[in-house]
Amino acid sequence: MKEKTSRIGVSLPPKLLDRFDEMIDGMGYANRSEAIRDAVREYIYKNKLREADEKAKGIGVISLIYDHHLHGVTESLTDLQHNYCDVIQSNTHIHLDHHNCMELIIVEGKITKIQDIKNQLTATAGVKHSDLLINPVEE
Ligand code: NI
Repeated sequence: MKEKTSRIGVSLPPKLLDRFDEMIDGMGYANRSEAIRDAVREYIYKNKLREADEKAKGIGVISLIYDHHLHGVTESLTDLQHNYCDVIQSNTHIHLDHHNCMELIIVEGKITKIQDIKNQLTATAGVKHSDLLINPVEE
């Protein structure tokens, strides 16, 4: 059964719309509306997690990219992770090139705590990029 939809008018700067169209062109969307629906769903999902209540639990992955030559970064990241061994389940380290390392950290526990760990890891000097993929766990 087809879901009932509402029509809305949205004003966007032409450059932003061009970038969006270029991006969805390669992603296999049948039309712009379908891509916008997905973008809105993703926005709601991400922001819902941001306001997760104290008890909500989730499972996810924190990814980090950092330059291991920077003095102390490896030790700092390891020390930090040891403080949260109740939440961190596993860790994979990939040597990307001469300078850069990627770490994928599997986490499970309170979403607020996972976000806290991610923020602390991200704020560590030497970390160039980080991301958090998280799925809520229903109890
Ligand atoms: Ni490495």
